[in-house]
Amino acid sequence: MTEHDGEDPSAPYRAPTGTHDVLPPDSRRWARVVTAFAGLAERFGYGLIITPVFEHSEVFQRVGASTDVVRKEMYEFVDRGGRSLALRPEGTAPVVRAYVQHRPTPPWKTWYVAPNFRYERPQKGRYRQHWQLGAEVLGVDDPDVDVEIITLAARFYEALGLQHVRLLVNSMGQPADRARYIDVLRAHLLAHADGLGEEFRTRAEQHPLRLLDAKVEEWQDVLERAPQLTEHLGDDARRHFERVQAGLDELGITYELSPRLVRGFDYYTSTTFEFASDALDAAQNAVGGGGRYDSLAEKMHGPPTPGIGFGIGIERVLIACDAEAVLLPEGPVLDAFVIDGVGDGTASVIVTALRDSGLRADRAYGGRSVKAQWKLADRSGAAFGVMLGRAEADRAAVAVKRLATGEQIEVPREHVAGWIRARLEEAP
Ligand code: HAM
Repeated sequence: MTEHDGEDPSAPYRAPTGTHDVLPPDSRRWARVVTAFAGLAERFGYGLIITPVFEHSEVFQRVGASTDVVRKEMYEFVDRGGRSLALRPEGTAPVVRAYVQHRPTPPWKTWYVAPNFRYERPQKGRYRQHWQLGAEVLGVDDPDVDVEIITLAARFYEALGLQHVRLLVNSMGQPADRARYIDVLRAHLLAHADGLGEEFRTRAEQHPLRLLDAKVEEWQDVLERAPQLTEHLGDDARRHFERVQAGLDELGITYELSPRLVRGFDYYTSTTFEFASDALDAAQNAVGGGGRYDSLAEKMHGPPTPGIGFGIGIERVLIACDAEAVLLPEGPVLDAFVIDGVGDGTASVIVTALRDSGLRADRAYGGRSVKAQWKLADRSGAAFGVMLGRAEADRAAVAVKRLATGEQIEVPREHVAGWIRARLEEAP
């Protein structure tokens, strides 16, 4: 997903299948995405949480036995001490584990940026290591928190300038609602299974809920006519869901009710949601998703603690930004590049003084010719070249060249930082 100067196809080692390097200058966009999210999350009152990249496998097994991410895709290993560990496949279980371990005072509002590992079939937008930005709130089941967490994610996409991201919401009900509904759904699907093949029948028997958002063309008719979970919600779940919708309406956040939205984790209860980008291929169009998980803390042997959160895939967000032509590379990477025509250490003093003054400055190394250094200055993308030649050095001055236009002027050394700063400030 990155454009490099020239990949060497014969390089003996490559990043493992399904992973990729993020190199400068592309990494600046990553930094902008993370900074935008961090700023928003802090404004919403969330604090950064950092958990280990690996956990005891059991922490993730608590997420649910029929969750594919856990059942089929985990990177698990036994360490030298004989412990069964797993690389984090998703961000919620570690946060809940940390909550149960540290028992912070609820409501506990955290945000994270972290890599996740899933042994999936790699394709565009689907990787074996992907990064998520996420937020979780533990300790409150108030529907206002559902609205807040959805708002945080929605504001993030807006802040990046993405305009083709749709919010889909659904409710998975409370476990008892869901159990009742699954029986009704299974009966419907099996009653209409004739001619749809053995796989349909098996899945209808084993995981009727997961079948609901299957993409197989011939099944769509039956799936579309299937009874909906939101029609089988108990009073509590129904009231909660209505309140969430009203809260989103009050904030003017547009959403679509999506009764067939079934997210891939067993831990979800009541509100679930997904953000789909219409700028991406339908198969990998989820740029984020989340929901409530009101029983997960108990499954981790903690006190009953409601929770809600979301994860946003950074790589997919960047693909969506490319597709919508937003978050484009902005301005030069450097303010100044120093060219040393003297070779006595003065260039180091100048470049350090520029940096100390707050400018982004760099230089060439290794005694290159002045011509070669000018080339590097051009390639560096700096706004200004700062040339220290013998004649200028004798006058305690430097020649400053605006690299875009070639226009050049001599400036006393002690004024160079201020001079460049003034020009940068007046630039359009
Ligand atoms: P998830 O839907 O599995 O949810 O992942 C969240 C987001 O991560 C997806 O919407 C997508 O943007 C991105 N993503 C997932 N898998 C990949 C992949 N293989 N390659 C690239 N991007 C990917 C969770 O992980 C839940 N922990 C979210 C959550 C938080 N629910 C409650 N709290």
